[in-house]
Amino acid sequence: MTLAILSALPEEQAGIAALLTDARIHDHAGRRYSCGQLHGQAVVLALSGIGKVAAASTAATLIERFGARGIVFTGVAGGLGDGVQVGDVVVATRYAQHDLDASPIFPRYEVPGYGRALFDCDAALSAQLAVAVQQCLAGGGAAWTAELGLPAPQMHQGLVVSGDRFVSSAAEVQALRSGLRAAGMDALAVEMEGAAVAQVCADHGLPFAAMRSISDRADDSAHLDFPRFIHTISSRYAQHIIGSL
Ligand code: ADE
Repeated sequence: MTLAILSALPEEQAGIAALLTDARIHDHAGRRYSCGQLHGQAVVLALSGIGKVAAASTAATLIERFGARGIVFTGVAGGLGDGVQVGDVVVATRYAQHDLDASPIFPRYEVPGYGRALFDCDAALSAQLAVAVQQCLAGGGAAWTAELGLPAPQMHQGLVVSGDRFVSSAAEVQALRSGLRAAGMDALAVEMEGAAVAQVCADHGLPFAAMRSISDRADDSAHLDFPRFIHTISSRYAQHIIGSL
């Protein structure tokens, strides 16, 4: 089975690319795909770029052209849930699109044609990820966050939401959370790709899992915290967590 490892940005995946052996590079439709081996396991690495359309297109190519039999997303996210702090790691259990609204024809957040808003992550692959995250946080993780003056990182598991917007104000976080709560959802983190990949994997009946390290709190300092985190820690998390799957 070829496992696909997908990220939006190179900084989110550099640590894994460094571990790839027998690497063969393919450029297709504006994306770079790196096929090879990770500790003897066949993998294909890809960078989607930012946003749901870019992520969906890349996921479809990974499946149809590169024979991916499952996709793991690794990247960063803004923390939304109480107690989800910068440096923590979220393993998604399910996904929704926070900016999808075809109401009043369909309930807010529901994906038209699917009869639901939520897409589950694969339980077995997510459990594997969670074990790898715990091992990483108990090992080097705390030292890395300490470099940024952050407390020891925690792991969280639950709903992650995606939308085509970088969330960067406390007011926006409040509006987003209250909209989700009105639909019975409480999200741990927000990012811009995962729900699209979850939907493509569901279409193909393939497993999907995602881990997101928290780069910012999606608040008024998110635009400062995001680059600081992505340049220092996110790739190290990816290397240790995905590299040990
Ligand atoms: N990815 C990382 N931080 C984010 C934020 N605040 N909003 C959307 N996507 C993000």
